[in-house]
Amino acid sequence: MSVSQLFDQAASARRVDKITIRRPDDFHVHLRDGAMLQAVLPFTANQFARGIIMPNLVPPVTTVEAAAAYRERILAARPEGSDFEPLMTCYLADTTTPDEIEKGFRDGVWKAAKLYPAGATTNSHFGVTDIPALAPVFERMAKIGMPVLIHGEATDPAVDIFDREAVFMEQSLLPLLKRHPGLKVVIEHVTTAETVDIVRAHASRAAGTITPHHLVINRTSIFQGGLRPHLYCLPVAKREHHRLALRKAVTSGDSCFFIGTDTAPHRRNAKEAECCSAGVFGGATALQTYVQVFDEEGALDRFEAFASVNGAQFYGIPLNRGTITLERRESRIMAAVAVDDTEVVVFQGGETLPWSVGPVVA
Ligand code: DOR
Ligand code: ZN
Repeated sequence: MSVSQLFDQAASARRVDKITIRRPDDFHVHLRDGAMLQAVLPFTANQFARGIIMPNLVPPVTTVEAAAAYRERILAARPEGSDFEPLMTCYLADTTTPDEIEKGFRDGVWKAAKLYPAGATTNSHFGVTDIPALAPVFERMAKIGMPVLIHGEATDPAVDIFDREAVFMEQSLLPLLKRHPGLKVVIEHVTTAETVDIVRAHASRAAGTITPHHLVINRTSIFQGGLRPHLYCLPVAKREHHRLALRKAVTSGDSCFFIGTDTAPHRRNAKEAECCSAGVFGGATALQTYVQVFDEEGALDRFEAFASVNGAQFYGIPLNRGTITLERRESRIMAAVAVDDTEVVVFQGGETLPWSVGPVVA
């Protein structure tokens, strides 16, 4: 046996082929409603014990009543035997009042509020047009310890789409953090190295979610061999050095980063269209993708913190009991999920991924 063969043998002896972790949560999920909810919920419920449910329905979930009713529809759509727990959010509008926010929080209906700058993304038209004007709402949220979840992109059409996150952070996020030092903030779907630094610099009360797709694609991927609509989401993927910074952040072990898949299903005809809707349906492959990244970065020992501990601690909710096992076992991913008479294309669908989701113990 050659020396290099000996090294290979030693390396494979050290190789981890299976990890069992505390059940994880997804702190950023779009489940939609109706037939789409029925079609996509099983995938999220299969991988995650709980999910922070995005409120950008049509019309948006702006009231305690609407959130409670949506929660019931999600519970009713769960697959037989599923214990998946939806954690609801309130969609902030210019008209949101501090009392409505506090009522939903105290009644245990919602856990957080989502701030979409008006026009920033899918179904954000009723979002916030003047962030400083919402100060009374943020003050109340700071007082009751309710986090605000931020889609951090500038909406001025003159700003280059690849700069919208950076501009928002400088012009809106940093001033907001300054005005409300007690406010807990989640910067959703972080896509740049600079935002990673901002999250870290405010880690005592700020956190960042990072999607699976932003860990594996960069902006060039969207144009690889032609235009790939199923890789288009917002914030749009950035340059390679940003992707590498995101991989470093998630595998750092730092408690300010946790899972938020931003799984955002759209029907095939809405993606393969003259004007493609933003969103990647990552719900069916989320854990397989994340665990592959941690494996490639030699950080499997840090996966549980990112997947199952950091987010719950930030939100102040109990850690899940029970476990999920992830195995180094190749599996071919289904290409698409049927919805009505059409389908939703699965992120990495049709590919063979090296890791598979194994048994869940509740
Ligand atoms: O790509 C995205 N899709 N980004 C968002 O912020 C919203 C989401 C959606 O709801 O489709
Ligand atoms: Zn989202």
